[in-house]
Amino acid sequence: MPRSVMLLEGRSIVITGAGSGIGRALAVALATRGARVILVGRRAAALAETAMQLPVGVRSLTVVADITTAAGRAMIVESCRNDGLDILINNAGIVASGLLSDLGDAELQRLVATNVAAPIALIRDLLPLLRLSDRPRVVNIGSVFGDIGHPYFAAYCASKFALRGLSDALRRELATDGIGVTYAAPRATRTAAADGFSDLVAPFAMVLDEPAAVAARIVTGIENEADTIYPRGPERLFVWLQRLLPGVVDRALAAKGRKVRRLLEARPTA
Ligand SMILES: NC(=O)c1ccc[n+]([C@@H]2O[C@H](COP(=O)([O-])OP(=O)(O)OC[C@H]3O[C@@H](n4cnc5c(N)ncnc54)[C@H](OP(=O)(O)O)[C@@H]3O)[C@@H](O)[C@H]2O)c1
Repeated sequence: MPRSVMLLEGRSIVITGAGSGIGRALAVALATRGARVILVGRRAAALAETAMQLPVGVRSLTVVADITTAAGRAMIVESCRNDGLDILINNAGIVASGLLSDLGDAELQRLVATNVAAPIALIRDLLPLLRLSDRPRVVNIGSVFGDIGHPYFAAYCASKFALRGLSDALRRELATDGIGVTYAAPRATRTAAADGFSDLVAPFAMVLDEPAAVAARIVTGIENEADTIYPRGPERLFVWLQRLLPGVVDRALAAKGRKVRRLLEARPTA
């Protein structure tokens, strides 16, 4: 028998990166469903702005914390002690684009620390609290670039491939504990992170979704306790093509990549 849709009303949900973009849209959408949202990010003002956008009367908490530090993660754990935790959404992330030869060590370390190491450590740290919930779930916000290795996003793709691998492995590991794991893979979305690759949008014919639409799809996926959430549209086809005929995707993206290379060589380096 299919499981009933999970009601989000009254659920305690941690959202990392809730101060902007997809994280903010998720906070608004989940709070609108009656969830209690715990907003995490490094900028207090950005979190306050998100809190202002929540429906009146909703229960929320802001936690100013850096998820890449043990102290930041400890603050998140502490903030959940009293009211418990039902769902952790690992949304905070950074996007790096451009030629790999232009990527410095500091940026590379920040990318891997934020997109890979921190979500793994945060799940581990919150497991004891998640185990106390009657319907616990971890939601990892990946990307279609976690399936499709895209030129000029090599390190970012590697981080999202890692997050997808983590999600698959943990889904199997945590099934015994009754903890569900969802991997969500949005396509390009109109956020601050996307500003960093705006020069690649037209050459690669990317379509930018609005954060609210992405969040709505993810919330429906959470309610349905989906293992994976992918966008509709051509990207979904490309994900399948990547799995079945990777050589075709290789040739198509390499050809496009050759055309774009000169543009990137002219990009000012940070
Ligand atoms: N935009 C896209 O095209 C796209 C497509 C697919 C997937 N995604 C994924 O969607 C997620 C959200 O990105 P977005 O597009 O909404 O970008 P965004 O607006 O830049 O949001 C990223 C958020 O992460 C937070 N953050 C970054 N480092 C952090 C840290 N160390 N500790 C705590 N919070 C941190 C940032 O807040 P603070 O700076 O205040 O900490 C920011 O609010 C990311 O995982 C991204 O990879 C984005």
